[in-house]
Amino acid sequence: MKVTVVGAGAVGASCAEYIAIKNFASEVVLVDIKENFAEGKAMDLMQTASLNGFDTQIIGSTNDYSKTADSDVAVITSGIPRKPGMTREELIGINAGIVKDVAGKIIEHSPNVILIVVSNPMDTMTYLAHKELGLPKNRIIGMGGALDSARFKYRLAEALECPASDVDGMVIGGHSDTGMIPLTRLATRNSVPVSAFISGERLEEVKEATKVGGATLTKMLGTSAWYAPGAAVSAMVQAIAQDSKKMFPCSCKLEGEYGLDDICIGVPALIGRSGIEEIVEIGLDDAEKEKLQESADAVRKTNGLL
Ligand code: 2OP
Repeated sequence: MKVTVVGAGAVGASCAEYIAIKNFASEVVLVDIKENFAEGKAMDLMQTASLNGFDTQIIGSTNDYSKTADSDVAVITSGIPRKPGMTREELIGINAGIVKDVAGKIIEHSPNVILIVVSNPMDTMTYLAHKELGLPKNRIIGMGGALDSARFKYRLAEALECPASDVDGMVIGGHSDTGMIPLTRLATRNSVPVSAFISGERLEEVKEATKVGGATLTKMLGTSAWYAPGAAVSAMVQAIAQDSKKMFPCSCKLEGEYGLDDICIGVPALIGRSGIEEIVEIGLDDAEKEKLQESADAVRKTNGLL
């Protein structure tokens, strides 16, 4: 499997590193516009191969997309990250142009590629990629829910004072501070609803901390996070490589599912060799349905800025 990662910044480089460490891809091509930057990151990562025990070849390219030819999966991380106090939506002006340009170049060299969009505002950038490329809806996926759900599990584990591997939970809706919907009702610890272990009030705090997970880190780091975003992308790429049909909430183009149409927003989907193999419609209660509708309205508002 050949994977292209566009943007050799912190998220792109982490993503390449996790993919390599998991050792399921034959090649990762890192692309960046900054002269020699991707080549440098690739070389640095390749010098960890003997230490970390992987055989994946990582190569760097300064904007030469011919090196990405015939990629099976391409990840777009390019664009500017948020600064403290900024919303993801504020990045649209600059990032829309970049995503449009990058998506076109990828497709030119890899017509059969599965595209994963990470750049923010992610749901709108995923929608833009669909509009620009007109690919079948299974082949363009937005990465948000996998990350937001990992942050939800982190906060749940913290509240329950247990390992994150003990908890399960999912975040649907838009990848924004107000649009995320952590499904607290369905969250469990070893199959037991988390409400058996913590109060409703604590669960509400978990929910709020999850929603501002990215903003909290942006404030602490001075720029947006990279380890968890990189790990979330690599898990999705792995599901494609291994055709595992693993369920991830991710930004999917909806055509009537969940009562929504002509929008990309986070819902659970099975990810495999064809990208989105199936959108899974889970039963939401009335409050969750209402929240999803509100989240969709906000995403549409951002889409309107394109
Ligand atoms: C985040 O939430 C980068 O949007 C990404 O950290």
